Amino acid sequence: MIEAPPSQKQSTKPQMLRGSSSPMIAVRSVAKRIGQQEILRGVDLEVATGETLAIIGRSGGGKSVLLKHLVGLMTPDVGEIWIDGHNIIGMKKRVGLARSIIRRPSCVLYDEPTSGLDPVVADSINRLIRRLQQRFGMTSVVVTHDMKSAFDVANHIAYLHEGRIYFHGTSSQLQQSTDRLIQDFLLGRSEHGAAVS
Ligand SMILES: Nc1ncnc2c1ncn2[C@@H]1O[C@H](COP(=O)(O)OP(=O)(O)O)[C@@H](O)[C@H]1O
Ligand SMILES: [Mg+2]
Repeated sequence: MIEAPPSQKQSTKPQMLRGSSSPMIAVRSVAKRIGQQEILRGVDLEVATGETLAIIGRSGGGKSVLLKHLVGLMTPDVGEIWIDGHNIIGMKKRVGLARSIIRRPSCVLYDEPTSGLDPVVADSINRLIRRLQQRFGMTSVVVTHDMKSAFDVANHIAYLHEGRIYFHGTSSQLQQSTDRLIQDFLLGRSEHGAAVS
C-alpha cells in the first residue's frame, strides 16, 4: 500500500484518520478465502461521512466481494467491518439495521454503475451520484472500471490489488503517482509483468 496503512488495532472502535468524526465505513484487516482462492488478504479502508470513494482494480480482483462484505452478504474469515459505529460481523440486529437504512439511507454502494452505458447516460449517472453527495451528504462507495467516472465522482480513490488496498488517495495523487503498477492500470498497459488472468 502506498499511503501509510491505518492502525490495525483489533476490537476497538475505529479512530478517524482524517477529520474529526468517526468514519462512516471502516474495514479492518479483512481477509476472505473462497475455495482455494484468497480473495481479500487484509483489506484496510476507511470512508469518511459524506465522502465518495471509488474502488478500482483489475477484473476478478475482489471489488464486488468487498462490497458484499459491506452490506453483510458475505462475512470475512478475519477482520472487522464497522458501519456508522456498528460492528456488522454476525450482528444479530442486522434486520433492524437494514430497516433503518432503508428508511433514511446514509450510505449508497454502487457496483459498476456506468458499465455498459453510453457516455451520455453514464454522465447522468455520475451527476446523480454527485448530487446525492452534495444535497444529502450521502456517503458513497463506487466500484468502477470507468476511470472517467471515478475521477468525476470520487473524493478519494482506492486501488484494490492482490487482495489489499495498494493505493488510497485523492484523484490528483493517483494521477500524479509514479508507481508503475498504477500507471499501467491507468494507461491500460499490460506490460511490466501485469499477468493476464
Ligand atoms: N460466490 C462466489 N463463489 C466462488 N468464487 C467467487 C464468488 N464470488 C466471487 N468469486 C471469485 O472471487 C474473485 C473476485 O471476484 P469479484 O469480487 O467479483 O471481482 P471483481 O468485482 O473485482 O471483478 C473472482 O476470482 C471470482 O471468481
Ligand atoms: Mg465486480
